[in-house]
Amino acid sequence: MFVNVIGLGYIGLPTALMMASHGVEVVGTDYNEKVVERLNSGHTTFSEEGLDELFQNAVRAGIRFSTSYEKTDMYIVSVPTPYDEETKQVDATYVVAAVRNVLQVCHKGAVVVIESTISPGTIDRYVRPEVEKAGFKVGADIHLVHAPERIIPGNMIYELLHNNRTIGADNREVGERVKQYYASFCQGEIVVTDIRTAEMTKVVENTFRAVNIAFANELARICRHDNMDVYEIIRICNMHPRVNILQPGPGVGGHCIPVDPWFLVGDYPELTNVIGASMRTNASQPAFILERIQDIMKQKGITDFGQVGLYGLTYKEDVDDVRESPTAQLLSLKVNGATPQFKTFDPFVERDIAQNQYHDFDRFLADVKMIVIMVKHHHIREDWSRISDKVIFDCQNICPLEGVFHI
Ligand SMILES: NC(=O)c1ccc[n+]([C@@H]2O[C@H](COP(=O)([O-])OP(=O)(O)OC[C@H]3O[C@@H](n4cnc5c(N)ncnc54)[C@H](O)[C@@H]3O)[C@@H](O)[C@H]2O)c1
Repeated sequence: MFVNVIGLGYIGLPTALMMASHGVEVVGTDYNEKVVERLNSGHTTFSEEGLDELFQNAVRAGIRFSTSYEKTDMYIVSVPTPYDEETKQVDATYVVAAVRNVLQVCHKGAVVVIESTISPGTIDRYVRPEVEKAGFKVGADIHLVHAPERIIPGNMIYELLHNNRTIGADNREVGERVKQYYASFCQGEIVVTDIRTAEMTKVVENTFRAVNIAFANELARICRHDNMDVYEIIRICNMHPRVNILQPGPGVGGHCIPVDPWFLVGDYPELTNVIGASMRTNASQPAFILERIQDIMKQKGITDFGQVGLYGLTYKEDVDDVRESPTAQLLSLKVNGATPQFKTFDPFVERDIAQNQYHDFDRFLADVKMIVIMVKHHHIREDWSRISDKVIFDCQNICPLEGVFHI
């Protein structure tokens, strides 16, 4: 078993490390030299519980990191798949570029697994033609597989080991072969199906999440409009045996939920009324939060955005991933043509990525009158007395103090 994992980001790196730690010979490839240098110097590239230990295990087992592609039995492509801003369709440019490079080095019989999230039909439309263009025959010389990933940052290592997985292949035998690689570490059930079903299931899973979050966010807006307590209402509704409403929040972030459902809207614009409306609802949630901030400032006589501190820059709690985060979305909005000069702080984000960003919590607190809890990091829950003298707008419904404002 010899595998080349292409793309060593949030998904590719833990996957490569996991396989290497479980008896598979692995070389990890990334075209970003800095990523490869850092890994080769013995350091991981992002923080995640259990990642460093897994990394050490994989290094002891002989994993290598390189900027070149190598001749192996199987390739796992785990590169970004954004959506095209205009058409909303999947942007397969990174996948196509990686597959082209693989085809330059691979031997006949190799299996190319696309792990990146892609919309149904992407392999047919973009990947099969590349294989044929390179002079190979799909199914005879090169086998194509889609094995989408479900893990969540913050619990990646546990989920890699325990989640169920889907493998889509043109023929059962190839699907079963790829299943053996994943079964080297995955203790969950691994379902083998066809490629288009595998493509669609992953996108549908994230769409399910997006639609349900949008429903909760919309309820929050209705309740705010007529001064009802959305949390109490959801709590009571969820006592119904067949109702399970999610919690509203300041928006959705990360690389999956604000992105993948757009693929369906882009491909099936006439058939995605609920999905499209949900995506727009979630995308406009930071604007709703900004309005709410202004209302609370007015009520409390705070006139300067500089006296308001946004707590949390990441897209979810207890991780350092800031991609598409609701706070970043909020910070891009304008009031009367100008960007509000909020102060910002996140215990997980060491580099400077936002305006007026503090790296010391006490100094941040000393400079603000109002704090907006955007992210429910464990850090803020450790000691509420630290913020008890502030005006608190809690977008996560976690603060037990009296007089807190909610969504
Ligand atoms: N992050 C998540 O939580 C998550 C969860 C499930 C699925 N996914 C999906 O997994 C895929 C990868 O996401 P990610 O979060 O790991 O992205 P990422 O941006 O963290 O990592 C991608 C890596 O690929 C490298 N890369 C890009 N093109 C390359 C090429 N041609 N050759 C070599 N390296 C290349 C980049 O340098 C980068 O290091 C996406 O399709 C995403 O939707 C992500």
